[in-house]
Amino acid sequence: MRGLKWKVTGLRAHWEWIAKIKENITIPVIANGDIFTLTDAKNCREISTCTDIMVGRGALMLPNLAQVIKQQMPVMPWHEVQGLLLDYTRCETYGDKSKYYPNRIKQWLKYLKLQYSEADQLFQEIRTLKTAEAIIEKL
Ligand SMILES: Cc1cc2nc3c(=O)[nH]c(=O)nc-3n(C[C@H](O)[C@H](O)[C@H](O)COP(=O)(O)O)c2cc1C
Repeated sequence: MRGLKWKVTGLRAHWEWIAKIKENITIPVIANGDIFTLTDAKNCREISTCTDIMVGRGALMLPNLAQVIKQQMPVMPWHEVQGLLLDYTRCETYGDKSKYYPNRIKQWLKYLKLQYSEADQLFQEIRTLKTAEAIIEKL
């Protein structure tokens, strides 16, 4: 899992700079960048000296990452992620928004497949599909 961030970005967050900046300002600082696991969160807090942290791409890879970090919850099982994919599909295909849906669901699956092998399989099945209807059938 530690190597995950290199797969995603190739760049790395410089949490030590957050600590330096925090020393010189008085406003609240929330640290972020490259937090994909509980260990990353602990390291980020320690190095940045920030209590508050934020997750971005990590939450796309693992939808309950915040709970994994804050409450040491187990990783969300794939069948629950499937439920979220369906909820997302209902929201994104409501009204006239469905033209953006194929790209967005594929983008999300690209993140999810770093955590779930099932997402990789699903991505392979839908990657050439261009309409919301065709993708929904596979979900
Ligand atoms: C889906 C998504 C949407 C984002 N939208 C914004 C945005 O609107 N404005 C912004 O300043 N940063 C945005 N970001 C960047 C994040 O705030 C964060 O700085 C960046 O993703 C690095 O953190 P991470 O390594 O946890 O992803 C977004 C990131 C993601 C993944």
